Amino acid sequence: LPPGSRLPSSRLLARELGVSRNTVLSAFDILASEGYTEAEIGSATRVSSILPETLQIPEYSDRLPTSAPATPCLSRLVQTRKRPSMGYADDIIPFHVSAPDLSHFPFDVWSRLLNRFWRNPPRDLLVNGDSAGYRPLRQAIAGYLRTFRSVECNENQVIITTGAQQALILAAQVLLNPGDRVWLENPGYPGLQHAITATGAIGAPVELDDEGISIEHGITIAPDARAAAVTPSHHYPTGVTMSLPRRLALLDWAASTRSWIIEDDYDSEFRYGSRPLSALQGLDRHGRVIYAGTFSKVMFPALRVGYLVVPSNVVDAFLTLRRAVDDHPPIAVQPALATFIDGGHFASHVRRMRGLYAERRESLIASLDSHFSGLLRPVASEAGMHICALLDPGYATGTEDGSVDKKMAAVARQNGINVTALSEFYLTEPARHGLMLGFAGFPPEILDCAARKLARILATT
Ligand SMILES: Cc1ncc(COP(=O)(O)O)c(C=O)c1O
Repeated sequence: LPPGSRLPSSRLLARELGVSRNTVLSAFDILASEGYTEAEIGSATRVSSILPETLQIPEYSDRLPTSAPATPCLSRLVQTRKRPSMGYADDIIPFHVSAPDLSHFPFDVWSRLLNRFWRNPPRDLLVNGDSAGYRPLRQAIAGYLRTFRSVECNENQVIITTGAQQALILAAQVLLNPGDRVWLENPGYPGLQHAITATGAIGAPVELDDEGISIEHGITIAPDARAAAVTPSHHYPTGVTMSLPRRLALLDWAASTRSWIIEDDYDSEFRYGSRPLSALQGLDRHGRVIYAGTFSKVMFPALRVGYLVVPSNVVDAFLTLRRAVDDHPPIAVQPALATFIDGGHFASHVRRMRGLYAERRESLIASLDSHFSGLLRPVASEAGMHICALLDPGYATGTEDGSVDKKMAAVARQNGINVTALSEFYLTEPARHGLMLGFAGFPPEILDCAARKLARILATT
């Protein structure tokens, strides 16, 4: 009964409920004494306009009780690390690095596939989840990876995760012990570094050139490394693709030292030049590669679906840990995603977006060329959704401190342009200076306008 409404008569209620009138009257008394009803003399009893619950709910406050310690006792890990930026939380304005263009996503097909499953879902799927993920989705992913990425796998090696980030965390936890050394690309992706160091392993920052991570440097600084964590298809953040000789050298190193390679293949669907190189996993003959991928870039980041492909002799170890983390991935979108891939919608969306992004990439390179007169020079790269542009070394060294690109990025942000400084991704000094510019989410005219604005900002910084 809503507040203010009249209570039914006790006689009527007693008849309806089949109880004595006294029972109803004593219930009314209790309600009145607890404040649920109110009666003014001469008028009917009504439900109170303010119910007792409303008065009892305390105002929410995130103020700590005064007895709580100002510095809580937490693990050494969280005390020593700042939260790495994963790039999604920023404003979706040019040049946001991880923004796909969602206006071209086939939401009509997607919603139809979701509906089709949810109208009458098989009841067992609502109760029993498979810790590796929904089998038809694993089959669809394995088929896709075999055809388009030359990954050698079957569905039993595929494990569905909550995005690539969870895949990387799982891989690190299964493979590493505290104190193990791991080659990390320098510069590199903070999410990958975080996954490694969260286990207590120690990152060894390995140099990078235009062929990818330097195996020689890795062997020099950490000959005993237990793993290497790499982004070979499209290095994050510079965009370099690891050459075939370098891939083979890395695989040889891993085979001869019985080390692991964690391959983060996060946006390899978007290649614009030559035919894509096989994933490292597809070249591996010794079962040393753990492959991680994601649907965040082709579909949308908040989908939170990624996957691992692991050698068959470690599948059980991965599943044991996966079950400890969250038992199994949510069923909500997995059947629709499986049909999306099997029905060819995924591949045709990739094709469409690849064409669109290629145009945007060309147009951004042309804009940089015409507005920056050499101040920002794109790193040669043939893939992905962003460009890394290096700042003219003369300009970067002309100032007294080492945070030129960070300052530029900060001023650009104040002026409504979202760029990320390259030096942020270095684990050691000296860092190269430059800016990361995402192009995928914005049409050419917006990119050009933002590039012109950025050039004006940089000229006065
Ligand atoms: C290099 C790299 N690896 C992994 C990820 C994580 O992807 P997901 O959204 O699937 O967790 C990202 C996301 O931006 C990325 O850039």
